[in-house]
Formats: sequence, structure tokens, C-alpha cells
Amino acid sequence: MAREKTQRRSRGRRSPFAAAALIAVGLLMTGGLYAGASAAVASTDESSTTTTASVAEGEKLFQANCATCHGLNLEGTETGPSLNGVGALAVEFQVSTGRMPMQMQGPQADQKPVQFTDVQTESMAQYVQSVAPGPDYPSARVLDGEGDVSRGAELFRINCAMCHNVAAAGGALTEGKFAPDIHDTSALNIYAAMITGPQNMPVFNDMNLTEEDKRDIVSALLYQQEMQAPGGFTLGSLGPVSEGLFIWIFGIGGLIAVAVWITAKSN
Ligand code: HEC
Ligand code: HEC
Repeated sequence: MAREKTQRRSRGRRSPFAAAALIAVGLLMTGGLYAGASAAVASTDESSTTTTASVAEGEKLFQANCATCHGLNLEGTETGPSLNGVGALAVEFQVSTGRMPMQMQGPQADQKPVQFTDVQTESMAQYVQSVAPGPDYPSARVLDGEGDVSRGAELFRINCAMCHNVAAAGGALTEGKFAPDIHDTSALNIYAAMITGPQNMPVFNDMNLTEEDKRDIVSALLYQQEMQAPGGFTLGSLGPVSEGLFIWIFGIGGLIAVAVWITAKSN
């Protein structure tokens, strides 16, 4: 019997694993081809763009992607404000968070997938800065995250929490606008937001919050981004809203379930 079986198998009957193996080989091949192809695309991308930021490159990118709204000489149009004097930092903030190039008019420029590499963004920033200077990139020390975290958190509660929530989870403003969460914003963009005051956010210049204050706030926010929640579930850190909802559904729901269970038992 056993012999017959092995003979039959060797004579070309497929093993039950053959189909699985075939699929695995197929997947590996398509995966490999895709990886190869995208690596090829990526490498062509890299070779076609320069590796160091330059004003000339930035001007080209700006004319192609931004001038329709902001004007050929940053003078602004009906669909976009003038960028004279907004500075490199504003461009860095707007482009590297995916807010610009804007696609749709709305209450607030949405964050979208970022469309430019860091070098391209820096090029455009340098170009805008070269036409009419404004706030520029800060020194590395301000962004090092080594400031006084507890002082920064206090400054954040005083100056920012009314819009961004104490836990930096974000919050709604009027007319469909909102202050976004700051849970994955880079140190540079936290600083840039304070300096440039995008849209409904006020500008915090150095009279308001000194460079040292800003360093502490950046440190506190970076600390918060890395911190694990020691108290268990944060429920989105939205305070009474999510906590109330949780109690409402699970707390009261549980009580009702117990009441129903007790009455069902006694019958
Ligand atoms: C469809 C039109 C449109 C396009 C395209 C566009 N923008 Fe804007 N941009 C706007 C509008 C409207 C605002 C003002 C509202 C806001 O801040 O969201 C703005 C604001 C900005 C600001 C902030 C100005 C300030 O006062 O701080 C910067 C910087 C900026 N854009 C840069 C760019 C760059 C760089 C590009 C190209 C990569 C670009 N924009 C493409 C419409 C546009
Ligand atoms: C009046 C309300 C208000 C206050 C006060 C305020 N912000 Fe904002 N903030 C906003 C709004 C609105 C935006 C979104 C702007 C946009 O989308 O262009 C924003 C955006 C940001 C961003 C960008 C987040 C991202 O991921 O792109 C950061 C970082 C930020 N604020 C930090 C701060 C800090 C730090 C303070 C205090 C020093 C502060 N904000 C105070 C309203 C506020």
C-alpha cells in the first residue's frame, strides 16, 4: 500500500503543498519585480533633483507649483496671499506639513501627504527668503529638546492649551477651523508654528515668548510625544468628552445589564 502511494505521487500527482508553494513563488516574484521597479523610479527621482538646496532650484519649483496662487514675484493673487516677508520658516512649515500647495479653498488649509523632499522645501524656502526676508531657520540649540520640560509644559498650558488642549490633542475652533494635535509634529515645525502663526494661530514673537521659552515648550512637547501614558488608556486625551462617553456607554450600560439580569433571575 505504502509503496503504491509513494509511487503514485512520484509519478506526477501534485503534492497538496504545490498550490501554496506556487502562490508563494508568484507573490515573491511580483513583490521582487515591484521592489525593483520602485527602486529604479526612486533612483531616477534622486538623480533628477539636486542634493543641496539652492535659490535657483527653489525659484523653478515655486514658479511651477505655487505661482498660480502666490504670484510670479510673491506678490499674491486673488487665490493666495503675498509671501513677501513671510520668510523661510513659513515656507518650511506650510510645505513640510503638507498644507501647501493648497488644493481646495476651505476654512483651513488641510494637511495632506507631503509633496516635496526636504531639499526641495528648503530650496523654495531659500527662494522666498531671497526675495523678501522674514523669519529664518533657528539655531539647532532651540530644537534640541534639552530645555526645561516642566517649565515648558507650564508655558504651554498658559499660552497654547486653550486651543490645543492640555495634552496637545487638538481642539475645535469656530467656523470649521481647528487647532490640530501636536503628537507627531517635528521640533522645527513646532518652532515654526510659534514664529509664523499659521492662519488662526497667533504669532508668538520673542517679546511674547523668548527663545528660551520656546526651547522649553518644544522640549515639553517632544517629551510628551515620547512619553507612554502612565495612567492606562488615554481615550484620545480629549478629557470629559471621551471619558463621559465611556462612562455613559460602559458604566450606565453595565448597570442596565445588571438590572436586567437581576430581574430576569427573579422571574
Ligand atoms: C490653490 C492656491 C495655492 C497654492 C497652489 C499654494 N498656496 Fe500657499 N497659500 C494659499 C492660501 C489661500 C494661503 C492663505 C491661507 C493659509 O495660510 O492657509 C496660503 C498661505 C501660504 C503661506 C503662509 C503665508 C503666511 O502668511 O504665513 C506660505 C508660506 C505658502 N502659502 C507657501 C506656498 C508654497 C511654497 C506653495 C507651493 C509649493 C504654495 N503656497 C502653493 C494658496 C495657495
Ligand atoms: C488661538 C488658538 C491657538 C493658540 C493659542 C495656539 N495655537 Fe497652535 N494652532 C492653532 C491653529 C488654528 C493651527 C492650525 C493652523 C493651520 O492649519 O495652518 C495651529 C497649528 C499649530 C501647530 C502645527 C501642528 C501641525 O502638526 O502641523 C503647532 C506645532 C502649534 N500650533 C503649536 C502651538 C504652540 C506651541 C502654541 C503656544 C505657544 C500654540 N500653538 C498656540 C491655534 C492656536
